[in-house]
Amino acid sequence: MMLLDVIYFILRNSMQIIMRPRTKPIDGELVLITGAGGGLGRLFAQEFTKHGAEVVLWDMNSTTNEQTAKLVSEMGGKAYTYTVDVTNREDVYRNADLVRKDLGRDVTILVNNAGVVAGESILDCPDELMERTMKVNCHALFWTVKAFLPQMKAQNHGHVVTIASVLGLFSTAGVEDYCASKFAAVGFHESLAHELLVEEVSGVKTTLVCPYIVNTGMFEGCKIRCVNRMLAFLEEVELVLPPLEPQYCVEQAMNAILIDQPLVCIPRLTYLPFLSRALLPWESNVVTYRFMGSDKCMYSFIDSKRKQASNGAIKAA
Ligand SMILES: NC(=O)c1ccc[n+]([C@@H]2O[C@H](COP(=O)([O-])OP(=O)(O)OC[C@H]3O[C@@H](n4cnc5c(N)ncnc54)[C@H](O)[C@@H]3O)[C@@H](O)[C@H]2O)c1
Ligand SMILES: *[C@@H]1O[C@H](CO)[C@@H](O)[C@H](O)[C@H]1NC(C)=O
Repeated sequence: MMLLDVIYFILRNSMQIIMRPRTKPIDGELVLITGAGGGLGRLFAQEFTKHGAEVVLWDMNSTTNEQTAKLVSEMGGKAYTYTVDVTNREDVYRNADLVRKDLGRDVTILVNNAGVVAGESILDCPDELMERTMKVNCHALFWTVKAFLPQMKAQNHGHVVTIASVLGLFSTAGVEDYCASKFAAVGFHESLAHELLVEEVSGVKTTLVCPYIVNTGMFEGCKIRCVNRMLAFLEEVELVLPPLEPQYCVEQAMNAILIDQPLVCIPRLTYLPFLSRALLPWESNVVTYRFMGSDKCMYSFIDSKRKQASNGAIKAA
């Protein structure tokens, strides 16, 4: 029976690539998005609004958060903004209570989207920045889930969405803080998903979103460069995986959320390095990384982050 089930789900999930299952209606749901002032968070707010949900926007930057709220109202949607530092658990719990009091109802969809990256490889990276990455990308998931999951479980209705990264499934050089935090986020999310299944809380769904580099500025300058530029055909490599358009990324993630898909990698091609990481010897993966130039792809990002910082220092002076 188990083997039949295994085969059934392989077939069903393959079919779903061609024939999209029906999406669930989310009008009237209350969606809380962290990092709502940023690139993807803002687009998530707009997409959820399009589908008739109301959005609670959390960001520690009140200026950009208000701008997101303004865009949502212009679309005819309802947005409620809160200035919250998700790394501060007291701040998270206090604001969760405040949301419940202000709106008189519970958050039913939690989108943990806030995220940061230090932009320095480990030996150059200030300790505080490494800690910050862990706190925003990993610890904050603990506090928000603790704040909002109890009501979802009580009503057996809800959805927990974690915006991780493909760098939570495989890694590259120079982003130690980020990979550590995103692998942690993936582990946390999966364990939570298992727990909800074991406890048969079938009404609370989970979706793990793992995007490749997106054009939001977060990884500005990052390039998959080919090693050997003398081979003309290799220059095409850069075209194989260009950074994603934020809108495309969020639309794909929304599709997955609306069909209760447990995991989505965007774009699909990134399932390949995920698989080869698990199946091939370490050294085989290293040679494909070298061939693709993905071993050093973060170095150009670190460079451009440094340039930005020194420009900022000059301006400040
Ligand atoms: N941009 C990419 O290439 C990429 C790729 C894969 C995954 N992701 C993930 O997607 C998510 C969104 O990324 P983005 O590109 O929109 O980033 P972004 O930098 O544009 O936005 C991040 C937002 O989070 C907010 N934030 C940061 N720390 C916070 C804190 N402590 N408390 C509250 N808010 C805080 C920031 O103010 C900002 O508005 C992140 O989790 C990121 O790791 C991004
Ligand atoms: C908020 O974001 C804007 C735009 O990125 C930036 O100029 C501003 O300094 C930020 N404010 C805070 C308090 O971080």
